Amino acid sequence: HRRVTLAALAAKKDAGEALVMVTAYDHPSAQIVEAAGVDIVLVGDSAAMTVLGYDSTVPVTVDEMLMLTKAVRRGLTSPLLIGDLPFGSYEASDELALATAQRFIKEAGCDLVKIERGGTTVDRARALVRAGIPVVGHVGLTPQTATALGGYRAQGRTAEAALAVIDDALALQDAGCAMLVVEAVPSEVTAALMPRLDIPVIGIGAGAGADGQVLVFHDLLGLYDGGAAKFVKRYADLRSAAIDGVEAYAREVRSGMYPSAEHGYTMARGEAARLEE
Ligand code: KIV
Ligand code: NA
Repeated sequence: HRRVTLAALAAKKDAGEALVMVTAYDHPSAQIVEAAGVDIVLVGDSAAMTVLGYDSTVPVTVDEMLMLTKAVRRGLTSPLLIGDLPFGSYEASDELALATAQRFIKEAGCDLVKIERGGTTVDRARALVRAGIPVVGHVGLTPQTATALGGYRAQGRTAEAALAVIDDALALQDAGCAMLVVEAVPSEVTAALMPRLDIPVIGIGAGAGADGQVLVFHDLLGLYDGGAAKFVKRYADLRSAAIDGVEAYAREVRSGMYPSAEHGYTMARGEAARLEE
């Protein structure tokens, strides 16, 4: 297990090799993505929806994210680990951003932290980088502020809107971000962005032109009971497989088929007879 480094990602980008990122939220999902050989793991605040049952990413707290992120850390050796700073934990000041980011590095063992938007987030990114914390930017559709963007919808579909996404991306690179996530923009926006960015760019719903792709674990495995975004491709149907498994268990318990002798214990020789004495 060689640990993935930022230098290794830069080398892959230069060689034109696609970077593979996926989310994970707990110890078993971390072990699964590690075994599958991904490059980068993000403990996304999408956890708010995928594992905590909130209806957006906004309510999830730093403590909730840290608990999940620590569980992922314990399941990973090779991939680079990104912590996702939740809504309200970094925007208000450089001091707040630094205090929160340091917890993700120090307590949860993250290699980098991700923050959303351009605007004031560019200043937060610069402050974190100056304090020695590698930062991932996130532009285009930024779910933490989706309400202000008109909902969960593609961004950058007009020339002005596309230029705004590109400006955010360039400002985040200038602030020292080590990587950029671009979410839900037309492929033309990604194509316009790529020649102007030296840092690795990871797309989600941003076409094939980025340096790599990220998908949510529950979306790509079909574990999430809910409508998936247009950009999601399902590579498995684990929800159906899991329901089938639990139904089979329930049937066998109800019919008396489970447990059978092979799933039980026996007493030491002669001991059962002594019970009747
Ligand atoms: O929270 C998340 O899962 C994300 C990715 C989709 C980029 O931010
Ligand atoms: Na996120």
